[in-house]
Amino acid sequence: MNIAIIGAGSVGTALGKAWSRSGHEIVFGVRRPNSADVKAAAEGVSARAVAVAEAAADAEVVVLATPWEATRSAIVAAGGLAGKIVIDCTNPLAYRDGELGLAVGFDGSGGEQVAEWAAGAHVFKALNQVSYLAMEDAKFPDGFPAMFVAGDDEERKPVVLKLMTDLGFEAVDAGALKIARLLEPYAMLWIHLAYNRGLGRDFAFSLLRR
Ligand SMILES: NC(=O)c1ccc[n+]([C@@H]2O[C@H](COP(=O)([O-])OP(=O)(O)OC[C@H]3O[C@@H](n4cnc5c(N)ncnc54)[C@H](OP(=O)(O)O)[C@@H]3O)[C@@H](O)[C@H]2O)c1
Repeated sequence: MNIAIIGAGSVGTALGKAWSRSGHEIVFGVRRPNSADVKAAAEGVSARAVAVAEAAADAEVVVLATPWEATRSAIVAAGGLAGKIVIDCTNPLAYRDGELGLAVGFDGSGGEQVAEWAAGAHVFKALNQVSYLAMEDAKFPDGFPAMFVAGDDEERKPVVLKLMTDLGFEAVDAGALKIARLLEPYAMLWIHLAYNRGLGRDFAFSLLRR
């Protein structure tokens, strides 16, 4: 598929590398396509880096891999996203009283906010729940991490689930986009364990069944 990844940071480049390996066409949408760091990141993926609007224009799937505070302006810069699949990897992080938490929650989510900003797009929340290290290489000695996907468009959801499988995750349909209200605090648990409880960044949650 033609995938535009907006943001060529840790998440963007990890996804670019892994999806390229599965045969997808990657283009990065960035603010500074000619900067040395962006060029190096794109070369590592054998992908092009262009302005955000140009990247989004021809893409079937647009992946948001921007800091939360930049996400609205990135969507505006992308121009019309109506009719496209948008995968929102962001976590709406914010500091409150010196402690890292979520800027929205309980009666809303970053995913739903993205759907409001990206009018007419088919928005899915996914990939916010693991480290970029697992996005680049999802194979762990004990198996494969779960990747929960939330979105309202049942017709297009299989496409997004397949993209998660292509990365090596066990893709799990978690339900409607409003389930992002659960997936974003779930990501906070990962962040807490990684940074406050000494687990480091190279772990992920998996799903066991009986
Ligand atoms: N790191 C992780 O392991 C991880 C895991 C799950 C989810 N997430 C979420 O994924 C998102 C990206 O995280 P990251 O770690 O990849 O961040 P990062 O390494 O800081 O990269 C962010 C990228 O976004 C670009 N960007 C910033 N503002 C932009 C704008 N207005 N338009 C277009 N691009 C813009 C930056 O480019 P410039 O050089 O132009 O600033 C940079 O390439 C965040 O929302 C984060 O919460 C991260």
